[in-house]
Amino acid sequence: MERTLAIIKPDAVERGFTGKIFDRIEGNGLKIIALKMIHLTKKEAEGFYKVHAQRPFFPGLTTYMSSETVVIAVLEGKDAIKKWRDLMGATNPKDAAAGTIRKDFAVDIEKNSVHGSDSPESASYEISYFFSSIEIFSHKRTKT
Ligand code: CMP
Repeated sequence: MERTLAIIKPDAVERGFTGKIFDRIEGNGLKIIALKMIHLTKKEAEGFYKVHAQRPFFPGLTTYMSSETVVIAVLEGKDAIKKWRDLMGATNPKDAAAGTIRKDFAVDIEKNSVHGSDSPESASYEISYFFSSIEIFSHKRTKT
């Protein structure tokens, strides 16, 4: 079992695609094991995307990601990282395959509707950026 972080970005939340995206997640063998809606500050968006800090698109990306509400989830399943990236499609919706979320819903490379971790290391960083262990419900917890 593997875990990955999913973000439904402002463009998709605003246009009412959250339910449709959840449908694709749950319909393809991935389990939502943690969930929250949040309006990121600019600083929080910068911290989340710090690996891109030197990229020219960083200021625009972090302004966009802190412009409106996002939905954040932890997904669990076999090969969850690759499975979620396959469901999302290519970063630029122009290059995304038919039937992927970005092909069907994204506006452009910045407003590309969804985010997913790209490796086990980034999944670990990204999940712990937003969720503490008591907010993640992988297994039934027994009260002691
Ligand atoms: P995401 O999967 O969230 O990871 C980094 C984000 O940067 C990416 O999706 C895009 O939304 C955004 N971005 C904006 N411009 C570019 C670009 N030229 N190349 C790659 N990513 C970009």
